[in-house]
Amino acid sequence: MSIDTSAALPGPVLEGRGLTMRFGGLVAVDDVSLRLERGEVLGVIGPNGAGKSTLLNLLTGIYQATSGEVLLEGRSLAGMPAHEIVAAGIARTFQTSRLFGSLSVLDNVLIGMHTRTRCGVFTAMLRPGRARREMRQAAERACALLQAVSPDLLERRNQLASSLPQADRRRLEIARALAAEPKIVLLDEPSSGMDDRDTDALIADIERLRAQNPALSFIIIEHDMRLIAALPQRVMVLDYGRKIGDDTFEVVRQLPRVQEAYLGRKASHA
Ligand SMILES: Nc1ncnc2c1ncn2[C@@H]1O[C@H](COP(=O)(O)OP(=O)(O)OP(=O)(O)O)[C@@H](O)[C@H]1O
Ligand SMILES: [Mg+2]
Repeated sequence: MSIDTSAALPGPVLEGRGLTMRFGGLVAVDDVSLRLERGEVLGVIGPNGAGKSTLLNLLTGIYQATSGEVLLEGRSLAGMPAHEIVAAGIARTFQTSRLFGSLSVLDNVLIGMHTRTRCGVFTAMLRPGRARREMRQAAERACALLQAVSPDLLERRNQLASSLPQADRRRLEIARALAAEPKIVLLDEPSSGMDDRDTDALIADIERLRAQNPALSFIIIEHDMRLIAALPQRVMVLDYGRKIGDDTFEVVRQLPRVQEAYLGRKASHA
């Protein structure tokens, strides 16, 4: 699998400026700015309820920010509905699985491709040959994607998604996100439900995808410091909606809040 980003523009691929999200009296995301460079992996960590998933929801148009804006390659996404944002190049996975359990592994990936296939119902009725050809090409691409994410998934392509072990479900969600041919992939706790061995395999899968697609950028929310230490070049720390750190893992791991939340040490001050 290879995603064409050759027409990429200079500058950060994604920018968030002063993003704030209020739910009634609660400020879930509080004046957070971020920059994501092309080909970069940005990690996002922080205690439960810190606003990590809400931030992803702002970047993908699921929530409209109370204030602030999101720019994709310098273009504001204000007011753009979530499905158009996917088509514009930002794909994601969810913290809790949103696979179609009663569909096959392959069909789940084909669904992720719908923003890139041209034939609709009318073409299928009026020009069935063209629709069949497009479906065949889509299925070939979906198989290539499954192979790229994990050869194990390709072998299981005709199984129901609900029958997959947890680690493969998480991988299938990544494959489905990639099917939209994104410039940026946002992963919300991709290793949740995985043991250390599965997490190591996931790290290797993501490293392989990056090597195959050097311009593809990632934002990865994680509680597993194994993955955070291995993949991102930069790690942003959220706490009560505010950004309290944005640097290499080696630097942010020294923050008292990070020590307290993840590394099992009591901070000297709260
Ligand atoms: N739709 C919503 N309505 C009201 N409050 C919300 C909504 N979504 C999130 N919140 C609140 O916003 C805060 C941030 O939640 P969020 O899910 O972004 O945290 P998180 O950092 O992803 O946490 P976790 O690590 O547990 O997934 C929490 O206090 C949460 O209860
Ligand atoms: Mg979350």
